[in-house]
Amino acid sequence: MKILVIGSGGREHAIIRRLAADRPAPELHAAPGNPGIGRLATCHDVAVGDLEAQVELARTLDPDLVVIGPEAPLVAGAADQLREAGFTVFGPAAAAARLEGSKSWAKEIMAAAGVPTAASVTVTAIDQLEAGFDRTNPLGDLPYVVKADGLAAGKGVVVTRDRSEATAHGRSVLDAGGTVVLEEYLEGPEVSLFCLSDGTDVVALAPAQDFKRALDGDEGPNTGGMGAYSPLPWAPEGLADEVVRTVARPTIDELASRGIPFVGVLYCGLALTPLGVRVVEFNARFGDPETQVVLERLASPLAPLLLSAARGELAGADPLQWREDAAVTVVVASAGYPAAARTGDVISGIEVAERAGAHVIHAGTALGEDGRLVSAGGRVLTVVGTGADLTAAREVALAGAEAIELEGAYHRTDIARDAAEAQGPAA
Ligand code: AMP
Ligand code: GLY
Repeated sequence: MKILVIGSGGREHAIIRRLAADRPAPELHAAPGNPGIGRLATCHDVAVGDLEAQVELARTLDPDLVVIGPEAPLVAGAADQLREAGFTVFGPAAAAARLEGSKSWAKEIMAAAGVPTAASVTVTAIDQLEAGFDRTNPLGDLPYVVKADGLAAGKGVVVTRDRSEATAHGRSVLDAGGTVVLEEYLEGPEVSLFCLSDGTDVVALAPAQDFKRALDGDEGPNTGGMGAYSPLPWAPEGLADEVVRTVARPTIDELASRGIPFVGVLYCGLALTPLGVRVVEFNARFGDPETQVVLERLASPLAPLLLSAARGELAGADPLQWREDAAVTVVVASAGYPAAARTGDVISGIEVAERAGAHVIHAGTALGEDGRLVSAGGRVLTVVGTGADLTAAREVALAGAEAIELEGAYHRTDIARDAAEAQGPAA
């Protein structure tokens, strides 16, 4: 089987790594890929935003399946264009990817589908902001949740107890011509659940937890994600089934009833609140860095699964098998991330990390003029450790992250720590 994966980040590297482990191994191509992906797939110099060139490349390669990794091309209609050109695509059409592209539209769909989520107010003018805060946080005793409506690479959300900071963020989004969504604050641990859909049926992968804040102890600004782990030993039994029943299926059904089939990953970002599961956000693609740990634990082959979703045949897919092992990933981020990431610095230590048992996923790397590996984004590498339990997996991932040498880079040291401590030593 020949597969083309569109994207250049850690998520796409993790997808390709897992596809490369299928037997028989598929022939893998990436557009544009990255230096890590280049070891497993043929990389083609086509930008993530160049939809026409992607179609042209697909015409040249004639893949059996195209997998679109990032949200931006999905929202821009990459899946539509590739399907129109006759290809089998894993990834939602623009009309369905709008679930991620517009938080206010996602709220409308959830309301129509009866999906539990934070109460919200959509604000389009500055003079509506303060009333919106009073409605979503009436006692002012909880953090304010202020979101830019459109795509913001995980950085458009401010959660703060400081009302003036909340106001400033809302104003800056409105001043830039955007729309703001204010939400009720959801209390409770977060879970990311990837629900694969073929437009009708839904198959959930294993739940993971992501760490969104830049610094240890959940301090610092929101980022695209600084680390993740799976499984979640503390999660209630049957969580994935409950989310499929109460969140994913009703959402997919609501879209289908509007003539919008969702084919791809419905990423359910959830809070397990004292009142039950609530949706924090939907994304229309695999999460990054959660994919690095979820796919690491998937024992079933990935290519047939994605292909059956793309073809509308998920109902006939084999039940998924999972490894017992735990997986933890720690993101190595550039100095200045997320506000202003420094790039162009030489990276070394990957072999040291891998000799210590970790594997290193490339997220924002490039080859410099002299052929050396350099940083090319905010999240540079995601170092993955596996082990019999979270403690073991965490040790490998952290040792790996510490082995990476990159001027000014930083990583969190508390990824999966609380869950590992609660889990206790391996039996
Ligand atoms: P989003 O991009 O919507 O997932 O928001 C990024 C992060 O902000 C989430 O992962 C949460 O940590 C936090 N967040 C978003 N919405 C809420 C909410 N309603 N209540 C509490 N935290 C939230
Ligand atoms: N890790 C969060 C995301 O992929 O949106």
